[in-house]
Amino acid sequence: MRKPVIAGNWKMYKTPKESLAFLDAFLPLVEGHGRDEILLFPTMSSLAYVIEASLGTNVCAGAQNMHWLNEGPYTGQTSPTMLVSIGARHVLLGHSEQRLYFSETYERVNLKLKAAINHGITPIVCFGEMLAEREDLQTADVLRTQVRTALRNISASEARRLVVAYEPIWAIGTGSTAHPDVAEQAHGIIRQELAHCCGLETAEKTRILYGGSVKPENISSLMAQPDIDGALVGGASLVPTTFANIVKYE
Ligand code: 13P
Repeated sequence: MRKPVIAGNWKMYKTPKESLAFLDAFLPLVEGHGRDEILLFPTMSSLAYVIEASLGTNVCAGAQNMHWLNEGPYTGQTSPTMLVSIGARHVLLGHSEQRLYFSETYERVNLKLKAAINHGITPIVCFGEMLAEREDLQTADVLRTQVRTALRNISASEARRLVVAYEPIWAIGTGSTAHPDVAEQAHGIIRQELAHCCGLETAEKTRILYGGSVKPENISSLMAQPDIDGALVGGASLVPTTFANIVKYE
């Protein structure tokens, strides 16, 4: 009942030319694939090109971040209306790299989440603990607090569009993928907290993606878990054949 989402986060990689070369190779590999929603998150400088080149295909592209206001004196920021104007309908919010290196907070993620919903943009909100928090047995508390803060005052009907990603920070770019059981347990905690914030029905309908060193070799065992509804892929989404193999996992 929850259609899986396989998303590629290109982080700060690929010029527009490289992005279009990726699509030339990737689109034929996934043509006609309808089992999963396929999303790409290029850099802002490539986004409009990628959206245009994927029009009419089964691939959608979105932004890696946005501001919550429509316009203003905020150097370096992009607004929800600007994203909508170029046809972007998805946005990543609260990615751990934004939290760690650019002081993103869940209070701001909450504002961005509301803005995304108001503009008809699907937010993919990221949660995840650091290694020290896991070792300290704080994972459940950390995740619950993150979810609660991000979803403050979001109603069940507003949360309808929400997609969530569990990305344990210790698994991102490290090659140490979370064991499927470990990921499943964290997804369960997040779903429980979603139910607490927005009701059971919303929680049951919300797709929760796993992210952190997803590869063609481990995608199937992750997707076999009942609470894992897709993947948010970093490094392995940069190569067309590798990402297509992840999309078409068996
Ligand atoms: P890696 O797949 O490179 O570990 O990155 C995960 C990620 O941060 C996706 O948003």
